[in-house]
Amino acid sequence: MKVFAHRGFSGQYPENTILAFDKAHELGVDGFELDVQLTKDGKIVVFHDQFLERTTNGLGRLAQYALQELKQYDAGQGEHIPTLAELLKAYYLGPQLMIELKYHSARNYQPLVDALVKLLKQFKLKYAPVFCSFNWPALVYLRCQSRNINIAVLHKHKPFLRVLKMAKLVKACAISTPLNEVSSRKVELARIAGLNMYVWTVNSKKQATLCRHLGVFGVISNFPDEVRP
Ligand code: G3P
Ligand code: CA
Repeated sequence: MKVFAHRGFSGQYPENTILAFDKAHELGVDGFELDVQLTKDGKIVVFHDQFLERTTNGLGRLAQYALQELKQYDAGQGEHIPTLAELLKAYYLGPQLMIELKYHSARNYQPLVDALVKLLKQFKLKYAPVFCSFNWPALVYLRCQSRNINIAVLHKHKPFLRVLKMAKLVKACAISTPLNEVSSRKVELARIAGLNMYVWTVNSKKQATLCRHLGVFGVISNFPDEVRP
C-alpha cells in the first residue's frame, strides 16, 4: 500500500511548505498530496485554505494577493508559501505528486486548469502526477485539455455510484475517499471498475492496518512516519 504525505509531513511541520515536503521525502514516502490555487496575478501556489490566517501571519483571502505580496508572509517556521513551480523544480525526480485543485468558490474553474496544464508542459517529471478535485466540472474540463493526464475523483458525502459514474466520465485512474466512508464493498466496486482507491486522512497505525486489510491502493497521511509498513 502506498503512503502519500498529506500537505507534506504536515503532522509535524507547517503544511504545504517545502520544509514539510522535504521532511516527508526524508521518510521515503511514495508521494506528496498538495493543494493548489491561483494568486491574483495568475501564479499557482501550494496552499490549502481560502484565507491566510490559519497557516500564515497574513490576513484575508489568498486570491486577493499577487505572488510577491504573498511571499512576505511566514507560513510557519520561517517558511514561505511555495509556488507549484518551486516544488516541481525540487522534486521532478519524485516522489509522485497528487495535486488537488482547490476551489473555494466554484465560479470559474478554468484559469487554474489552464495554468496547470501550461506549467506541467515545462517539466519532465519522472512520475506522472495525479490530479484530483472536489470540483468535478473542473475534472471534466481538465480531461478535455489532456487525454493522458491522471485523474482521481475526490469525493465526500456523495453516493458511491455517482462517484464511479464520474470516474468513468473523466476516464479516471483512481478515486480518493474519506476514511470514514471506506468499506470493503466500495474497495471491491472500485477494483471492478479498474480504479485505484486512495483513502484520506489516515493518521494512525490502526487505521493504516484497516486500509491494508481492505485492499486500499494508497493512504494519504499527516503522519507518514506512523503509517509506514
Ligand atoms: O486529497 C485529499 C484531501 O486532501 C482532501 O481534503 O481538505 O485535506 O484538502 P483536504
Ligand atoms: Ca488536499
